[in-house]
Amino acid sequence: MADKKFVLAGVMGWPVGHSRSPLLHNHWLKKYKLNGAYVLLPVQPGRLTDAVRGLGALGFAGCNVTLPHKVEAMALMDSVAPMARKIGAINTVVVQPDGSLHGTNNDGFGYIASLLEAHPAWHADAGPIAVLGAGGAARAVLVALAERGAKDIRLLNRTDTKALELAAELGAPVTALPWDVRHDALANVAMLVNTTSQGMHGNPALDLDLHTLPRDALVSDIIYVPLETPLLAQARARGNPTVNGLGMLMNQARPAFEAWFGVMPDITPELRQAMETSVRA
Ligand code: ATR
Repeated sequence: MADKKFVLAGVMGWPVGHSRSPLLHNHWLKKYKLNGAYVLLPVQPGRLTDAVRGLGALGFAGCNVTLPHKVEAMALMDSVAPMARKIGAINTVVVQPDGSLHGTNNDGFGYIASLLEAHPAWHADAGPIAVLGAGGAARAVLVALAERGAKDIRLLNRTDTKALELAAELGAPVTALPWDVRHDALANVAMLVNTTSQGMHGNPALDLDLHTLPRDALVSDIIYVPLETPLLAQARARGNPTVNGLGMLMNQARPAFEAWFGVMPDITPELRQAMETSVRA
C-alpha cells in the first residue's frame, strides 16, 4: 500500500546528539500513525556535500540542518525559498519528487508562531523592538519580524560592526545601535529579544540592566535550555510578559514535518510537557 511506504527524515549537525528534534518528530509520527522515523545524522564539517547529495538515494524525504551547516547547505540546494534566501541560511531540506533538493528556513515562522501561541494579541508593529545579537539566529528573527510588519527594530550586538553590517544588509526597519547603549536603548520598546548565547546553560547571564524597559514590554529569549534564562526570570520578577525559546523550536518543526510526511502536526499540551521534561533532564 502506497501509504505504508517507510519515510525517513533526520537532523544533520555536528555535534547533533543534544538535539530534541527526534523526540518531536517521532512523537508526531506515532500520533499520526505514519510509517517512518526521524534520526540523528552526525555529519562532520567537510562531509556535508556528500551527506546532502545522498539523501534521496537513502530514502530520505528530507532533513533538518543545524549548526554548523546552515549557511553552507543553502549553496547545495537546487531551489531555495525566498525567506531562506533573505535569512541567508536554511534549516530544512525537502527532497522533491524529481529528486531535486529544496531548501527552506522555518525558524522565522517558528519564532512568530511561538509569540502568537503565548500571546495571541501580539503585534509586530506595537512599538519599537530591541534585538540583541547579530548571529544566525538573529537573522531569522529580524527577517521574520520585518516581514510581519515591525516598523522600528533596534539591533545591538557585542561586536558593533556585526550589527552595523547586518542592519545595512537588511535595511529598514532595522537600525544598529552601539552595544554600550543597550541598557538605555530599552526605553519605550514594546518588545525585547535575546538571540545571543548569553543565559544559555553553561554560559553567564546576559549583561543587561532592565531599568528603562517598560513593564508591559514583551521579553523573548530564543534559548530553551534552561527554559527560564536569567533574563526571563528578571523580566518576570518585574512583571513583564515573557516567552521562552521552546515554542520556536516546536513551531519551526511543524511545516517541515508537513513537507516530509504530509500532515501539519499539532502542538498538544502533552507534547509540550514531554519536551519540557526532556529539556529539564
Ligand atoms: P547563533 O547562530 O546561535 O546566533 P552565533 O552566530 O555564534 O550563534 O551568534 C552568537 C551571538 O551571541 C552573537 O551575536 C555574539 O556576539 P558577537 O557577534 O559579538 O560574537 C553573541 N555573544 C556571544 N557571547 C557574548 C557575550 N559574552 N556577550 C554578548 N553577546 C555575546
